[in-house]
Amino acid sequence: MDDPLLAPPMPALDWVSEATACVTRHEHGLLRLEAVAPDILRLRFAPSGRFAAPRPWSPVLELPPAGLSVHEEDGRLWMETERLSARLDLSSGAVSFATPDGRPFAEDLCAPGWREVALEETGLQHLPDTELPPGEARIGVGVRKRMAPDEGYFGFGQRDGRLDRRHRRLTHWTVDRAAPGHGLGEDNLYQAQPTFMAVRPGLTWGLLLNSTWFSGFDVGREYEDVLTLFTLGGELDYYILAGPTPAAVVEQLTRLTGRPLLPPLWALGFHQSRWSYGTDRDVRAIAEGFRERAIPLDAIHLDIDYMDGYRVFTWDRERFPEPAATVTALQALCIRTVTIVDPGVKHDLSAGYSVAESGVAGDYFLRRPDGERFSGWVWPDESLFPDFCSERTRHWWGDLHGSLIELGVDGLWCDMNEPSIVDRPYREPGVTEFPIPLAVRQGDEGEALHAETHNLYGHLMARATWEGLERLRPARRPWVLTRSAFVGTQRWAASWMGDNSARWEDLETSLPQLASLGLCGAPHVGVDIGGFYGHSFGELYGRWIELGAFHPFMRAHAHRDSRPQEPWSFGPEIESVARQAIELRYRLLPYLYTLAHRAHRRGEPWWRPLLFDFPDQADLYAIEDQIMIGPQLMIAPIRAPGLKRRLVELPPGCWYDFRSGARIGVGPAALVMDAPLGAMPVLVRGGSVITLGNVRQSTAEPLGELMLEIYPDDEAEGFWTLIEDDGESFEYQDGALAETDCRIAPLSRGAVFALAARRGDYQPAPRTLILRLHLPEAPAGLMLDETPVEDWRWDAELQAAEVRIDDDGQGHRLVPV
Ligand code: GLC
Repeated sequence: MDDPLLAPPMPALDWVSEATACVTRHEHGLLRLEAVAPDILRLRFAPSGRFAAPRPWSPVLELPPAGLSVHEEDGRLWMETERLSARLDLSSGAVSFATPDGRPFAEDLCAPGWREVALEETGLQHLPDTELPPGEARIGVGVRKRMAPDEGYFGFGQRDGRLDRRHRRLTHWTVDRAAPGHGLGEDNLYQAQPTFMAVRPGLTWGLLLNSTWFSGFDVGREYEDVLTLFTLGGELDYYILAGPTPAAVVEQLTRLTGRPLLPPLWALGFHQSRWSYGTDRDVRAIAEGFRERAIPLDAIHLDIDYMDGYRVFTWDRERFPEPAATVTALQALCIRTVTIVDPGVKHDLSAGYSVAESGVAGDYFLRRPDGERFSGWVWPDESLFPDFCSERTRHWWGDLHGSLIELGVDGLWCDMNEPSIVDRPYREPGVTEFPIPLAVRQGDEGEALHAETHNLYGHLMARATWEGLERLRPARRPWVLTRSAFVGTQRWAASWMGDNSARWEDLETSLPQLASLGLCGAPHVGVDIGGFYGHSFGELYGRWIELGAFHPFMRAHAHRDSRPQEPWSFGPEIESVARQAIELRYRLLPYLYTLAHRAHRRGEPWWRPLLFDFPDQADLYAIEDQIMIGPQLMIAPIRAPGLKRRLVELPPGCWYDFRSGARIGVGPAALVMDAPLGAMPVLVRGGSVITLGNVRQSTAEPLGELMLEIYPDDEAEGFWTLIEDDGESFEYQDGALAETDCRIAPLSRGAVFALAARRGDYQPAPRTLILRLHLPEAPAGLMLDETPVEDWRWDAELQAAEVRIDDDGQGHRLVPV
């Protein structure tokens, strides 16, 4: 695009409308607007006059098209669905969008523009061997839009820095940022999600840039209040998501890019990792360490040293003489094994390494433009790289996991998949990045250049892994963890944020980072608790694990050169902080698992910024150090050393202290709360029902008790549905679910609690229900189903009336009198 602020006008020569789309013809190019759904419009502009063919590996799903009504009036084309309208100025080619009641947003300042782009302008020129062939691969296309001054801009994928990305230029190119201290100020990281939402009181809308090429957003940095979208690849293609709330935008986005997977229940438990627990003895000692100290644990991760010379899908038989016995020993302690797998396959063709041999025989590895197989260096030294754009290759790769599944491995950890490649063995000095040449062809038909598919390398590796596990073990939900990701990866994998450091700054930046990913449709995220690089220390580890208890994916991990970082490595005080944090995690699982189901159904992130639940409160947009955990809980983490209390902003509504059970105030307000080590503030929103289990050492133990902590609001009715299933299979898709609706009347209407009869075909194991109704003062009595309750107690400390009943799956009504 030409770089004066505005691209030249682009008058329409004529237009045609189809049932679901409208196409205008311009002297230079075609512009097409399509109703993908009543609340989603897609705009494409191809200066060449030809739209790119659909890609078999596109991260965007095809939805059944919706009707679009089109008419011309006053030199403009008006295009409308029930939920959204677009207006194209026929003389300029600029497009604007509006709500059904006529409020404009995402208004173009000019027509789209394009021009040939030099590599230097992308920031990729430092990569050697990046020759792009002439043609569309070099055409940059973009458009500029007006930013409403009161809009906050959120999402934008994995980034460091502030939650609101105004005044930033953000590009999309997955890279390994493993240098110690990756961080503040970096633009590209391991993942790329070219999507955002613009939030202002009364209206949130979203945008997904449908480009896997190098692309970016300038969010009012170059020009104040001007948003620029740009991409290589010769075509501008984006979706407008109508909102009107953040929750609606994430729902629309994940309708387009796929709903987040439903993890097996064990994956929501605590995971312990280190680079590496490198021998059978180490692994068993860690497992026993947890069990002896009664610290709950569900999974141990085996990092690269379990392999024979870092050859993927092999075992080092000296360190792990009988891998099956290692896995079985963990299973006997109810601990799952997760193994790392990197994409680089050792270039080891003469030594009987079957993975390399079968990969070569099937022609599954990338080839350079001259036809030679591409190789670069990773852990196993010279390595070959599968072409995950090819369905054949994905199938082969997925099937390779059979050898791990047979041993009883439960989860797969895909690492180094940006992909991370260097130019010589790591042991030699001066290694630098050695990327796959942009002109490498990928896909079963060789349909795309690596320049187009680079950002999908990790995404498609995760997909191949998930699909392999699904084929190999169809009765059980796969569980995959990935470092690199794109929009849509949430269908197949959880992710972690890569190699952070044991520093307060890294804890701090993780808060907006995870929250931003949730807004991009990726709910299952976490960071290395304690910090990966460097030596963690008691206070930092303690603060991190109390926070990590709320990470959607909760794992502690550390670098091979860092001091031990298990929960007991920092002395008895921190061990007890860690035990309590992990126990709280396990107690919260019935609530968190319901959040996982909600994410699976509607994309709803469980770790989210305040603006997600309070989009009309503009003064809460900037708050990054308070996080909503689902709609009912709010955490206020400690991000710095030495603090014993902190300021907490109360959004509207009444709020309770989760730990003491006491009512603490009505928002909007701010108050100072105590936050001793191990007990950062956790608040409950009035009108909530938090479902808690008993402490278990792993999710394999049945839930003996289900506690319903009931917190009435002053004025508003509360409603919650607990969702349960067998935690392991896909039978929930055929109705093997248990859904229990809870309704809590406000204090002003007597705080009556109604539990509906359980719905669905899943039958939880027998258990006791503990109903705990939090009230300002002790009631004279309680009525359960019209009968006075004899056996109840008032817990003065927690300010709650408690009654225990058998869980019979029937409806019940609890009335304080
Ligand atoms: C990468 C990963 C890290 C892992 C290490 C060794 O740095 O990000 O988690 O421990 O490789 O496999």
